[in-house]
Amino acid sequence: MKKIYASMISIGAYAPEKRLTNSDLEKMVDTTDEWIVKRTGIKERRIAAANEATSDLAFKAAEIAIERSGLAKNDIDMVLVATLSGDFLFMPSTAAVLAGKLGLKDTPAFDVLAACSGFIYALATAKAYVESGMARNVLIVGAEVSSRFMDYSDRSVCILFGDGAGAAVISATDDPARAIVDVKIAADGSLWDFLTIEGGSKNPDGKRVMTMKGNETFKIAVRTLTNDVIEILARNNLDSNAITHFVPHQANLRIIQAVGDALKLAPEQVVLTVDKFGNTSAASIPMAINEIYESGRLKTGDLMLLDAFGGGLAWGSALVRFAGK
Ligand code: UT7
Repeated sequence: MKKIYASMISIGAYAPEKRLTNSDLEKMVDTTDEWIVKRTGIKERRIAAANEATSDLAFKAAEIAIERSGLAKNDIDMVLVATLSGDFLFMPSTAAVLAGKLGLKDTPAFDVLAACSGFIYALATAKAYVESGMARNVLIVGAEVSSRFMDYSDRSVCILFGDGAGAAVISATDDPARAIVDVKIAADGSLWDFLTIEGGSKNPDGKRVMTMKGNETFKIAVRTLTNDVIEILARNNLDSNAITHFVPHQANLRIIQAVGDALKLAPEQVVLTVDKFGNTSAASIPMAINEIYESGRLKTGDLMLLDAFGGGLAWGSALVRFAGK
């Protein structure tokens, strides 16, 4: 039997219209544009409209990704949504709501909860389903309206996050040249309290807002991501020169630069959207891939190195050859 490979055949994204700039935040909390730019690289982020839920953003990104894939909606045989800010608290899944919006009535759909690393976890899941023959065309989406879970009086967190969605179609192919090369995911739950949103069974009365041990997370993120990308390149016998685009999770410009420097990447290899979207959690990587796609930088066959890190703690990296047109 011929081996089946999983391949990323399209990308799409959606960013809400409303912009929240650093000068807007200066009026809300004790901060300055200078501090935010210097410590994070963020200038503005997008905020969903009052009538937009996570599945609405996901739907817009998904429609673009499906359209660009050349497939019909009914060809999608699995829907995965990576999110930490779903439409509902736990039930129904945002993936089920999205599948409904897409008109898919008999399709497996479930959420993947791995915080900011969710898109890479969804990619790993899609790859496994496709390679095992259990699915042929998986829609994976990273979508967040994390602004609904922000404490806009906590300057250490609220300046970082924005809303948005990105989607990709992962399809079966027998051509190894189009395949996702490798995906690597991991978690260390002993550090669960570094990033939280309370209100679940452990503490149902807890405030449903994001908390973060920022500085501690920063240090572990740099160390873990650096080791992780070095490892995934090494186990695939690749040098960082082979990477056309390094597409990291957009949490903080300083984290991205530290990992990029460790890999000795040239600035043109590093994809940055953190300045205009901030940290859109699970949506940040597909939004960044879409950015290089729409600007014409991403070409068929280009090798992307993805990496992400966040609550769990959970992290992951991937080597993806773009097989879209
Ligand atoms: O995506 C999920 C994973 N998340 C991350 O990877 C994020 C990791 N963390 C970070 O990006 C950074 O740690 C932050 C941007 C959150 C903070 O930057 P930092 O350089 O680690 O600052 P810090 O937390 O050590 O705080 C330094 C100072 C403190 O004041 P004192 O104690 O030195 O007087 C903070 O109170 O900066 C203060 N501060 C602020 N000042 C102005 C914290 N937030 C702000 C703010 N504006 N918004």
